Amino acid sequence: MQSAAQTLVIIGTGGTIAGASGSATDNVGYKAGSLSVNTLVAAVPALASRSLEAEQLAQLDSKDMDHATWARLARRVQAHLERPEVRGVVITHGTDTLEETAYLLQRVLAPRKPVVLTAAMRPATAIQADGPQNLLDAVAVAESEGVSGVVAVVAGQVWSGLELRKTHSYRLDAFEAGPDAGALAVVEEGVLRRFRDWPAGEALGVARLPAGGQAWPWVEVLGSHAGADARAIEAWRVAGLQGLVLACTGNGTLHEALEAPVRALKEAGVPVWRTTRCAQGRIVGASDEPGAALSPWAARVELMLRLLAD
Ligand code: SIN
Repeated sequence: MQSAAQTLVIIGTGGTIAGASGSATDNVGYKAGSLSVNTLVAAVPALASRSLEAEQLAQLDSKDMDHATWARLARRVQAHLERPEVRGVVITHGTDTLEETAYLLQRVLAPRKPVVLTAAMRPATAIQADGPQNLLDAVAVAESEGVSGVVAVVAGQVWSGLELRKTHSYRLDAFEAGPDAGALAVVEEGVLRRFRDWPAGEALGVARLPAGGQAWPWVEVLGSHAGADARAIEAWRVAGLQGLVLACTGNGTLHEALEAPVRALKEAGVPVWRTTRCAQGRIVGASDEPGAALSPWAARVELMLRLLAD
């Protein structure tokens, strides 16, 4: 049965998809978050006949994404999803922290309607900008029957909000899914071809997110690497760190120089989660550890959400 809800809300947050450069041949020296979401929609003539509402929530380079914007975004998305006439929400976002925003929104909202993030690797002023096609594909996914949860659509591929990782700094198909997971679907000429289930799970609820200017828990990510030094952990512990995610080598191993300060942190009651710094795979033999199958960045979001429940 066709859904009665027909309106799509497109929320703009900035990113390269809204980026502008002085030269059409410059794909790197541009300013992200320069064009309004209305301008992005107007650049795709095929969207003119659709029932769309556009809303500018932020205008950021997503490297500068902050917790307050996350909380505002989650609350706006929820408010739109609660409107019966709204079929789904599309969010234009920068690629750099898209995976963190997507993870947060899926865990907090776990929506029954589609929430589709999209982005671009080239600014809107590029000779061959990828943003317009990605936006059109994102709208096609949000309009497709049966789609639910938070997903991301980039370069014709549909990724789970719980799995996607930016794995390339320049290519148009800059994302993969981890650990060892593939795309959920592809979009071909506006038609969705699905391979796997949509993201699901229990919604933690927006009430868990700090309101106004309230602080979020202080959780850092620390990489284990050759020549690792304990001083950063020591300084963070003294300064009141509330959680630490270790981006460990290989199958969850830690440089011996970090062992004692990590122990001291745990003894002080600070949760420390292991993840792997490998781009793919999980920590094998650690399925009871919450970070074992997450990227360090998703684990950081997950650990903050747990601390917010306490
Ligand atoms: C950003 O993340 O806002 C800039 C980079 C990009 O969107 O590709």
